[in-house]
Amino acid sequence: MLTDKRILLILTGGIAAYKALELIRRLTECGARVTPVLTRAAEQFVTPLSVAALTGEKVYRDLFDLTNEVEMGHIQLSRSADLILIAPATANIMAKMVQGQADDLSSTILLATNAPVMIAPAMNVQMWDHPATQRNLTQLYADGISVVGPNEGDMACGEFGFGRMSEPVEIISALAAHFGSGPLLGKKILVTSGPTYEPIDPVRYIANRSSGAQGAAIGRALIAMGAEVIFITGPTSVPPPKGACITSVQTAQEMKDAVIAALPVDVAIFAAAVADWRVSTVSNKKLKKSIDGPPIIEFSENPDILACVAQMKKDRPSLVIGFAAETNTIVANATAKLQRKKCDWIVANDVSPETGIMGGLMNEITLISKTGAEAWPRMSKEDVAKQLAERVAKALC
Ligand code: C5P
Repeated sequence: MLTDKRILLILTGGIAAYKALELIRRLTECGARVTPVLTRAAEQFVTPLSVAALTGEKVYRDLFDLTNEVEMGHIQLSRSADLILIAPATANIMAKMVQGQADDLSSTILLATNAPVMIAPAMNVQMWDHPATQRNLTQLYADGISVVGPNEGDMACGEFGFGRMSEPVEIISALAAHFGSGPLLGKKILVTSGPTYEPIDPVRYIANRSSGAQGAAIGRALIAMGAEVIFITGPTSVPPPKGACITSVQTAQEMKDAVIAALPVDVAIFAAAVADWRVSTVSNKKLKKSIDGPPIIEFSENPDILACVAQMKKDRPSLVIGFAAETNTIVANATAKLQRKKCDWIVANDVSPETGIMGGLMNEITLISKTGAEAWPRMSKEDVAKQLAERVAKALC
């Protein structure tokens, strides 16, 4: 499954480093060629000798090592892999990656590489939950880093919670998905994301507070499972998922045109917060203050892209998923929306300001289908995306 894939494995210093030995064994069994790099702290947990014995490769440890530089310089090392995997990834290496530090071999490789990077974080639950680590995690996602785990469970320090490194088999499946052998391989999935901007005049527009974070996370999760993703996004500062085919739009009408042009697809996920109305007549000159008082703006209804695609006779995707951002009677409103628009599932959530969901890192959704409503616990938008992608994969098989 990973035959001849060149994995540069960076071990950083956490107790979970002992699991990295098992990971190396399994990676080599799957046909991968593992080049190991150890930080100084990692050497406190595993010996370079055991890593060399298991990989059958030279262990790289120092930035300023003349022998290494003659054999393979650190820049060449950083470019020689199909993927760089950090397992375990400590809070420290995550912070260094965010800062772009390059003060040892592993951090320099990470700054110099042009290969995809995947991390398997492992740390104490308080360290994982700390706002600084969570901020770093968000930035790493935005920088296109793939993240596997951590899992919830008992920890070596005696505490319980999120922070355990993913098991080697889980890391191997994430790698397999990355290299295109995931359950959504061969599936074409359209995702809309972000807000739309509806112009009033050349300088003003009407918009909403959607950050596009949930849509981008869904795109990343689908790509990680092997899907070909067409990502149609309104204006947002959140980076689009790496590896997606991206179309940027401003208005609802432009989004609709881009969606129709992308069909046929296997699945369509409408995560965008599309403006319901547009200004009927957009002024081609900036509206001026006047003694007659403020302008009266007339609105027209925008096309409902989700309803239009869900009700297509020809080219209807086999799974059409809408979102319902509500502030009251969430499930009833979202269920009515499912029936009215004729989509297959609705992902409903409460976007009242006190939930912190709109523009935040976390989400709490109810997945509504024809068979009923299923409330999911509060979790990160990345986890909502991963679990939704798994549901999509199950529904398609
Ligand atoms: O009706 P409402 O805007 O609440 O519906 C939300 C769902 O419908 C979202 O999935 C959104 O992407 C989609 N939608 C759309 N086109 C519109 C309005 C909403 O695709 N004009």
